[in-house]
Amino acid sequence: MKKNPFLISGYISPDYFCDRENETETVTEAVRNIRHLTIFSPRRIGKTGLIKHVFHIAKQQKYFIPVYTDILATSTLREFTECFGKSVLTTLAKNEPALRKIVKSLSSIRPKISIDPISGEPSVGFTVSNEREAAASLEIVFRYLQEQKSHFALAIDEFQQIAAYPEKHVEAVLRTHIQNTTNVSMIFSGSRKHILTGIFSTPDRPFYNSTQVMEIGKIPLDVYKAFILEKFTGNGLKIEESATDYLLELTSAHTFYVQYICNRLFSEQGKTDREAVDRMLIKIITENEAVYASYINLLTPLQFRILRAIALNNGIQNPTSSEFISSYGLGAASSVSLAVKSLTDKEFITTIDSKYVLNDLFFNSWLKYKGSYV
Ligand SMILES: Nc1ncnc2c1ncn2[C@@H]1O[C@H](COP(=O)(O)OP(=O)(O)OP(=O)(O)O)[C@@H](O)[C@H]1O
Ligand SMILES: [Mg+2]
Repeated sequence: MKKNPFLISGYISPDYFCDRENETETVTEAVRNIRHLTIFSPRRIGKTGLIKHVFHIAKQQKYFIPVYTDILATSTLREFTECFGKSVLTTLAKNEPALRKIVKSLSSIRPKISIDPISGEPSVGFTVSNEREAAASLEIVFRYLQEQKSHFALAIDEFQQIAAYPEKHVEAVLRTHIQNTTNVSMIFSGSRKHILTGIFSTPDRPFYNSTQVMEIGKIPLDVYKAFILEKFTGNGLKIEESATDYLLELTSAHTFYVQYICNRLFSEQGKTDREAVDRMLIKIITENEAVYASYINLLTPLQFRILRAIALNNGIQNPTSSEFISSYGLGAASSVSLAVKSLTDKEFITTIDSKYVLNDLFFNSWLKYKGSYV
């Protein structure tokens, strides 16, 4: 069987990647001109994919040295330093002499070499035991970067995490290092718009106005349609054009959901028409039922009723409007407002095109599928 052309995680190569030509150009241009950049979008639209795509091309063209760090799993400056430091040093340790130089020059942070079990490549990390050591190690890593002749693009994905670190002055510490390191362009990326806006657009915060801001949206319908048709037919599978339109409409062309349904349809190796798309969506949401039940357990009865109302209503601009509240019997506007805030904080809902919608489109479809009988 042919390799599935629809990725649902990670990045392989431009062959598996649809469009983003303008966005790729914008990011590359910012980096090459040593401007820092903040990329945000709702979850699963393709921020990480875009960064990986730009970095893939940069590696081939040797425009700059890319370093990617995902800090989603970090909760302190100490963990950030270990995670970020490991990405930087592992990239710099690209050959034996470079590795030896790092071990010698950075002996004060006690670099540890290990072999990555998956890639078989050496990786270089270090441990940090307290906040003071974190600040000192971070300074050493940035100073070492500054000593290099190359130009670096440092991407920090899920950057909003830093706002929740308990240490004081995290933003100021990072900002100072970045300002003092003149051969790096930073790419900050994340999905929590209000947290990122707080970091980058609040006048009295260290990162105020320090980056170019880029919001990424959906891939244009006609471009995504052509990509899907080409991947199916190019691999000898039949797909009706109307089925592609229908799939893009059902998913509102939200990247992950398009990729996921296409991946599953492709793996069935059958003919794809509208019925096949419907069947597949029901199959997926039925498989996920246990997960949705556990989501519901995390909600108060009112939060759940609001979530279901938003799903049934296909999103809502103003959830405290009397029309919405009375149509779905939600009670007092003040309680609805509090519940909406809580649902947003828990990332069950988000705003896209100034409408509140569910973050998980398959959960949304399941709630609609079940109607009011959940
Ligand atoms: N341009 C693209 N063409 C094809 N697939 C893509 C494209 N961009 C992203 N994808 C795929 O869509 C899925 C979601 O993308 P990605 O993880 O980049 O989103 P994200 O915005 O970083 O999400 P999150 O906010 O959850 O981190 C992934 O499986 C990825 O492989
Ligand atoms: Mg991501």
